[in-house]
Amino acid sequence: MNVHARLADLATLGATPDGIDRGLFTPADGAARRRFAGWARAAGFAVEQDRAGNVFARLAGGTDGPPILCGSHLDTVKQGGAYDGAFGVVGGLEALERLAASAAELRRPIEVAAWAGEEGSRFPLGCLGSSAFAGLTSLDEIEALAGDDGEPFAHALRGPHGLLADVPLRDGFPAPSAYIELHIEQGPLLERAQVRLGVVTAIAGQRRLRVSIAGQQGHAGTIPMRWRADALCAASEVVLAVERAALEVGESVATVGWLEVSPKQTNIVPGRVELRVDARSVDDDRVAEIERRIRETAGRIARARGTPIEIELVELRAAAPMDDRLREIVRAACESLVPAVLDLPSGAGHDAMCLAQIVPTAMLFVPSIGGHSHIALEKTAPDDLELGINALAAALLTADRELPLGRGTR
Ligand code: GLV
Ligand code: MN
Ligand code: MN
Repeated sequence: MNVHARLADLATLGATPDGIDRGLFTPADGAARRRFAGWARAAGFAVEQDRAGNVFARLAGGTDGPPILCGSHLDTVKQGGAYDGAFGVVGGLEALERLAASAAELRRPIEVAAWAGEEGSRFPLGCLGSSAFAGLTSLDEIEALAGDDGEPFAHALRGPHGLLADVPLRDGFPAPSAYIELHIEQGPLLERAQVRLGVVTAIAGQRRLRVSIAGQQGHAGTIPMRWRADALCAASEVVLAVERAALEVGESVATVGWLEVSPKQTNIVPGRVELRVDARSVDDDRVAEIERRIRETAGRIARARGTPIEIELVELRAAAPMDDRLREIVRAACESLVPAVLDLPSGAGHDAMCLAQIVPTAMLFVPSIGGHSHIALEKTAPDDLELGINALAAALLTADRELPLGRGTR
């Protein structure tokens, strides 16, 4: 089975009429991780998992020390596409198969990881598996998280769609020599530049806020407009304040993509709204400034409308510059295959953000048709997938030759 058939197969897991819905430790996600383990074993690679649900496939090298690691994630957002994350996992697997078939001499193992729960689409924290792996979030903290359906992580991890029954559990989270993540761009820059390979300079830092707005629930027909404390009207002002903050701060983005109205009935003045803010920039100070502005404006809205507003910072990830030397290795690998390569920042978050905190890390992108991502339309041309895999394989080989053996340091 090649990368195209594997992507098509994974796309059936969690398929809905509106896209793929493969939240962490759901039946579809469990099936995807089982598929990955099965394909890797059939290719002759040793497969292990860790206590966060990350799964690793290993191509042996001349020594048995820390590997050069590649990979990405198999979970999706709601109504997601077939390439985000999945391509880095099955593309990584295929790169290992190509290296194995090439009889290249490896000085150390090369591994591909399927990181658990990158999207934060079921549990309220992104990059769960890679965050635990890098020691940024304790396993205790992760185990205590509850999914949107109320199931605690610890329960789901030990359930039928969590840890894989027939895969050995490794001790701890042994760090690799380096990490290289292959991913679709998820934006329009490569396509517009007519360049087929991109090398990431830095991944944008991000903050996620949970905003809770308390109004006065009441009868939609009887309460005069001037005596209302409508939580949704206050929320609407907050949403616009989020947009304005990003526009005014500049070189940043901020989004409200999640909003829940309670009790959500046509003839009731909304009594409660919860919404979630996602703010990002490669400049951490700008993200901090967006949060400051949102808090200040929310305070004013709350006073003016009589609707108390609580804001909780639920996730903070610093911007992650990629490692200079490893970036050069990836760039040279790309330049050996195409006439032009684009350096570009990543506005999307990736497991590489977490790995970059502990070992030299780099990323390479292939184009997304129309820039579409986090939507079923998401697609990359088959030839570009092939090119990305060849570039990754070449970069892994050079990294193995050039980087010192042993655990990588930053
Ligand atoms: C994941 O795709 C993210 O950027 O939030
Ligand atoms: Mn992704
Ligand atoms: Mn994504």
